[in-house]
Amino acid sequence: MKFDTPATTNPIDRLKVVGQPLDRIDGPLKVTGTARYAYEQHDVAPNQAYGHVVGAAIAKGRIVAMDLAAARQAPGVLTIVTAETAGKLDKGDYNTAKLLGGPEIEHYHQAVALVVAETFEQARAAAQLVVVRYAETKGAFDLGAAKDGAPDAPSEDESPTQTAVGDFDKALAAAAVTLDQSYSTPDQSHAMMEPHASVAHWESDKLTLWTSNQMIAWTVGDLAKTLRIPKENVRLVSPFIGGGFGGKLFLRSDAVLAALGARAARRPVKVALQRPLIFNNTTHRPATIQRIRIGATADGKITAIGHESWSGDLKEGQPELATQQTKLLYAGANRMTSLKLAVLDLPEGNAMRAPGEAPGLMALEIAMDEMAEKLKLDPVAFRILNDTQVDPEKPKVAFSQRHLVECLRQGAERFGWDKRSVKPGTTRDGKWLVGMGVAAAFRGNLVMKSGARVTLGTDGVVTVFSDMTDIGTGSYTIMAQTAAEMMGLPIDKVKVELGDSTFPASAGSGGQWGANSATSGVYAACVKLREAVVQKLGFNSADAVFEDGAVKAGNRAVPLTQAVGDGAITVEDTIEFGDLDKTYSQATFGGHFVEVGVDAATGEVRLRRMLAVCSAGRILNPKSARSQVIGAMTMGAGAALMEHLVVDKRRGFFVNHDLAGYEVPVHADIPHQEVVFLDETDPMSSPMKAKGVGELGICGVGAAIANAIYNATGIRMRDYPITLDKLIDRLPAVA
Ligand code: MOS
Repeated sequence: MKFDTPATTNPIDRLKVVGQPLDRIDGPLKVTGTARYAYEQHDVAPNQAYGHVVGAAIAKGRIVAMDLAAARQAPGVLTIVTAETAGKLDKGDYNTAKLLGGPEIEHYHQAVALVVAETFEQARAAAQLVVVRYAETKGAFDLGAAKDGAPDAPSEDESPTQTAVGDFDKALAAAAVTLDQSYSTPDQSHAMMEPHASVAHWESDKLTLWTSNQMIAWTVGDLAKTLRIPKENVRLVSPFIGGGFGGKLFLRSDAVLAALGARAARRPVKVALQRPLIFNNTTHRPATIQRIRIGATADGKITAIGHESWSGDLKEGQPELATQQTKLLYAGANRMTSLKLAVLDLPEGNAMRAPGEAPGLMALEIAMDEMAEKLKLDPVAFRILNDTQVDPEKPKVAFSQRHLVECLRQGAERFGWDKRSVKPGTTRDGKWLVGMGVAAAFRGNLVMKSGARVTLGTDGVVTVFSDMTDIGTGSYTIMAQTAAEMMGLPIDKVKVELGDSTFPASAGSGGQWGANSATSGVYAACVKLREAVVQKLGFNSADAVFEDGAVKAGNRAVPLTQAVGDGAITVEDTIEFGDLDKTYSQATFGGHFVEVGVDAATGEVRLRRMLAVCSAGRILNPKSARSQVIGAMTMGAGAALMEHLVVDKRRGFFVNHDLAGYEVPVHADIPHQEVVFLDETDPMSSPMKAKGVGELGICGVGAAIANAIYNATGIRMRDYPITLDKLIDRLPAVA
């Protein structure tokens, strides 16, 4: 089905199942421990051996020699895979560095060997006996030092890295009120609960890999390419995923090494990346240094807005797209954005939840707070004053829908924003300095082609098959809701099978496009299934209504099961999106409101209340959508207050590479969160009229917290994370 004209009324609009706050259909499997994650696929292939990955001990250079003798003789060892023994490997399309390094080493903890043994303990013990001698070369590890002279990041067609409209310099020079400030965000790790893990099994030249991966079709392609085998010979299975956040969008070393280990050992091999390896071996969100300049008239209209961002990556890597939201969020006739990319020899950077906007808004939305203060305007009012209903870089392109103003107004009202003290550092609650902060949320709405197969069985149960993944987001449930709504069935008459590359290729889970795109694929397949049923039963498709497990027209009602009297009906379709995402600018919006307490003596920051008001089209399931947003708000709190991969600038690696040293929020850090969704539909987005919320929820949170800290203390923080050591010497003398 091609989606190239705005959606009109369709069966989804009935909202009997879609739009309802249903429990996850996979919930019972999750809470009883019977949902099998990659490493738990014990019985899919017999006689599994265990692989343990050895990571490089230098950041850049060459392996001079590997002594594997002791490891080979260790108890239980079956084989050892290295670049030397693995045969020729190609590099996939989505990774920057090789997933099995050697002799060149491109980054610290790049995999250099896999030791395969009978047991996990034997593999791990033998891996310690691998002796590698390196010739180290000098690398660049310091973004601050590499920043000057960093060239323009290469542009992609649809998202240029350098943009200019009007005359930014002139308008800024002429502006009544101006701001010119720098901000920084650190390297961050996805730190998902489930480590990267794979079980590989070869049957002659055919590989099956049970793994933990967000994007099945991309990863089949990259695994086949890496191993230099036909795509048809690779099957990926990834039914349950314990979090990804972008860290599992791509093929990683666990998958490649499990496949190579299994081929060498001639039996199934399972590999999980040990937690201390993950931070440097896999991808991370790159650090940024950002400069923002804003000029406005005395009454607060933005006339000039400029955003430059510097980040680093390995050679041929990519920039963090931190200027993305600044192209679209606020009005202003004169504007510029620029992304610079330095070559750094740190581990590979890549997407992490809301790549671009998440770190970009951490800077932009502090700048907006600073600007409001200079203008003596309320920060909510300043944002509302500079709203735009068209793409400010392309004024002929309107937003399909944009309710940012409504989000901010409703949020202010619900949060009690009028109780915020305008003068910073003046609200006290015992030992706590109390403050409120606001930030706008913005995240683009991407749509991706997505397929599904649906079967109506003789038992009247509809089963949906798709290679779509559920990374904890609720894909199983919203896809079931979609099929149930389309076929007029209750949710318990629908089954969903996901995450298998033998099923139709879907949008996958990324860029918050999954919910809208994958359910649209189910919608398309169900349109075909309805047609098949109607044909079989001799109804007229124009007036057939699917409800209560039957097809009805006039006074005739026939149970669905009659259509399948002589065998199940199976159909398949793919939703393909036309140009509506180009003729209209599609995005999601929100307002984040935060209240913090800062210990007047120690500078310890405690969140007291958080509120998000979100505008994201139809909400397919308010319960799972809320879970996405509160999870994302929590991640935003981590980004504001804790998360920081500390770079060893001499040796070139992230020092705090485990969950003891890399801190993320826990329950005690998050006292009270509220999420509100505006009641809306966006007919430009898809037949579902939905968008995504999984990334929107993190966008702006960090800045709202920084702004609340400013309001509490009068201390303007521009470098994340905002830890107490940065506050303690500057606290007002009021303790
Ligand atoms: Mo996302 S960062 O595309 O999983």
